Amino acid sequence: METIQSIASSLLADGKGVLAADQSAGTIGRQMEAIDVEPSAENRRRYRELLFTTPDIEKYVSGVILHDSTIRNTASDGIAFVDLLLGKGIVPIIKVDKGTVEHQGFPGEVVTQGLDDLGERVEEYYSMGARAAKWRAVFNIGKDYPTDANIELDCLTLARYAAIAQSHNMVPIVEPEVIFKGGHDLARAEEVTTRVQTVLFEKLNEQRVDLTGIILKSNFVLAGSEYPEQTNAEDVAVTTIRTFKEAVPEALPGIVFLSGGQTPERSTANLNAVSKINEGLPWKLTFSFSRGLEKPAQEAWRGDDTNKAKAQRALAERLRLNSLALRGEYNEEME
Ligand code: G3H
Repeated sequence: METIQSIASSLLADGKGVLAADQSAGTIGRQMEAIDVEPSAENRRRYRELLFTTPDIEKYVSGVILHDSTIRNTASDGIAFVDLLLGKGIVPIIKVDKGTVEHQGFPGEVVTQGLDDLGERVEEYYSMGARAAKWRAVFNIGKDYPTDANIELDCLTLARYAAIAQSHNMVPIVEPEVIFKGGHDLARAEEVTTRVQTVLFEKLNEQRVDLTGIILKSNFVLAGSEYPEQTNAEDVAVTTIRTFKEAVPEALPGIVFLSGGQTPERSTANLNAVSKINEGLPWKLTFSFSRGLEKPAQEAWRGDDTNKAKAQRALAERLRLNSLALRGEYNEEME
């Protein structure tokens, strides 16, 4: 029987990870403009078709995170994207948050919205074939933030979303993203990520969320993008695992990583270093990158279908390298 535990375990299958193809129209639009492609709905559809029809994608991908517009969309031959993925044994995952808005009274901080009609939306997505849902909360690091008030509010919202998703037999992928951009050092990133994840699990417990049927989507713990001394992969790994040991209950089946604006190469190197020291820990760890997987494919494609096979090879190669990283067998010379 299909349970949230069995779905979570197929998402965390050995050697596989999750492709996060759920950029909003605005985000994917900016990525398209960067490769001189008109950010139209049809180009977004063509691009997603290119990704999902990559030969052998199912060897490395257990699930794909979709945006609302994509779960309702079809490939050129008329097959629904959800059915195309299901046909390859890939779990369709739906992004269910409605993005962030300013947290009034808390300059520099944001809150995620989308709870009001979540039950009905999740029910519809389930009937369309989705079996997991993702919600992203955003925590910026500044001198005076994140504040306790912002962390409490966003983590309670994440817990409420997780409870609603589970009540509809969907696996919640709970994403409290501590933002990489900024001038903070490694110690500050560790302190904030530990604080956020600790509060998150308090709220999940308070809301009676079944921890055996959720997946945590985490940032790697690393110094901010503008901090002069960037964190090497070994230090990222030690600090990230220390954070999880401090904050994440053992009952959780697994943790997936976002790439957060790091280069694809750096994301893979960090995953490799984390995998190397993950032995004996209670959680399965894997990737759930968007930019870290898609950037090379976008650059190879540039909107031109004669480049489609080249772009698909670029995606497949990124997936292969990340799959090797899950066994600690990746090195930079492979790039
Ligand atoms: O919610 C964020 C995405 O699912 C992951 O995106 O790997 O580009 O940070 P990223």
